[in-house]
Amino acid sequence: MPIYIIEHLEPRLSKWCLIEYKHISEIVGKRNLWFSNIKLKKDREKLKRYGRVIKESVSKLNLKNACILDPDARKTLAPKEARKFRYFIFGGILGDYPAKKRTKDKLTKFVKNAAARNIGKKQFSTDNAIYVAKQIASGKNFSNLKFKDKIEIQKNKVESFILPYRYALHEGKPLASKELVRYLKRKRTF
Ligand SMILES: C[S@@+](CC[C@H](N)C(=O)[O-])C[C@H]1O[C@@H](n2cnc3c(N)ncnc32)[C@H](O)[C@@H]1O
Repeated sequence: MPIYIIEHLEPRLSKWCLIEYKHISEIVGKRNLWFSNIKLKKDREKLKRYGRVIKESVSKLNLKNACILDPDARKTLAPKEARKFRYFIFGGILGDYPAKKRTKDKLTKFVKNAAARNIGKKQFSTDNAIYVAKQIASGKNFSNLKFKDKIEIQKNKVESFILPYRYALHEGKPLASKELVRYLKRKRTF
């Protein structure tokens, strides 16, 4: 099993990030997950339940056989090459709409000797991007995977909100963390 690395690039470890990172740990397993660029001790303490925690940026680790998942990469990740990568690196970046190319500007540009691949041009949440890369690494072709663009979450009888990202379908349903949906329903603003 490859190692999945999240390079945390948000200014703080928000509740939203934490719930998403916990979901990722459930998807790939704690032993296969690293969190890098975790500068604050209190955040390292919170994350160590979910994977290996590294203070330094992934750009300082000099990893061999690594692939960055970047929506702006020119090539799409294919199963044959995916099996050979030892590390898959993702931006720990909450979605922005429209996307601001932060993966390219804050991650791909700084990690030397790593390949960069997309999983299509549409923006997934980090947990969904990891799920899709894992599916491809286990032999599935990107073109055979099914997605839903935008999900609507009903807050109460009258209000709903849209998450304008791409979601993988898992057992026919968009892969959204139940804990995150509960949290977002309670949250007043975005
Ligand atoms: C919510 S996305 C943030 C994307 C960011 N807004 C940008 O413009 O680069 C979080 C992470 O998931 C991964 N990701 C999301 N969609 C992707 C795609 N279509 N191709 C490759 N990686 C993707 C990337 O590693 C990205 O840093």
